[in-house]
Amino acid sequence: LESRNIEKPTTSPATENLHKQPFVIGVAGGAASGKTTVCDMIIQQLHDQRVVLVNQDSFYHNLTEEELARVHEYNFDHPDAFNTEKLLDSMENLRHGQAVDIPNYDFKSYKNNVFPARRVNPSDVIILEGILIFHDPRVRELMNMKIFVDTDADVRLARRIRRDTVEKHRDIGAVLDQYSKFVKPAFDDFILPTKKYADIIIPRGGDNHVAIDLIVQHIRTKLGQHDLCKIYPNLYVIQSTFQL
Ligand code: ADP
Ligand code: C5P
Repeated sequence: LESRNIEKPTTSPATENLHKQPFVIGVAGGAASGKTTVCDMIIQQLHDQRVVLVNQDSFYHNLTEEELARVHEYNFDHPDAFNTEKLLDSMENLRHGQAVDIPNYDFKSYKNNVFPARRVNPSDVIILEGILIFHDPRVRELMNMKIFVDTDADVRLARRIRRDTVEKHRDIGAVLDQYSKFVKPAFDDFILPTKKYADIIIPRGGDNHVAIDLIVQHIRTKLGQHDLCKIYPNLYVIQSTFQL
């Protein structure tokens, strides 16, 4: 146990932050790895807390007429496909206690201005989910906890084929072409390299109940610390003075 002598601050910025700032969780992983499933399970278990889910998909750029005409040549798995500035703006507002309107993305029309937008209120926990949510360092810096859902490529491909043909009514040939031309290379070049930023790597996604239970326990502990700091503002000083 290390004891450090720290002057008691008159106002502690860290304590003030704990009053207001939401606990931000990032959930990354390949397409169809089970990110949404994992987020839904976490949200279900945290039913007594104010939790919101923000999908990176909502921040896809709208396509120009030219891009729409050649949509099979568009790379939806490249970091440039997302409007990260807008995502950062929305997060900034949420962190300052302001509600934001998050666009709804329509995978059929490739447009993100589907009316009405989703109104998201400031919450205790914000979950940011998306294939490339760990790519931009400014977005990573917002996160208190980073989770990478690690599911085998063949499982992801099988799920994607089922989802894109059954739910999105896409042609299987086009799904396979998109996978080999864009999805797989982008996973190797941009998504997999962000795994190193994760605090927790979940094998088998939503099947891994033990991992999800542990994550929820940790979030509850952290939220409890937020609450304690609201009741005992000097707790920050005690925490800083004694460090294991
Ligand atoms: P992501 O958000 O990473 O794209 P999803 O959670 O939406 O992944 O899952 C992709 C598809 O795979 C969905 O159709 C979902 O129902 C299915 N799926 C997800 N997890 C499992 C699982 N553990 N077992 C079977 N199917 C699953
Ligand atoms: O939900 P998930 O993380 O799987 O969504 C990301 C995937 O959606 C990407 O792999 C991308 O190729 C795909 N996508 C698509 N068509 C769009 C937008 C994204 O197939 N219009």
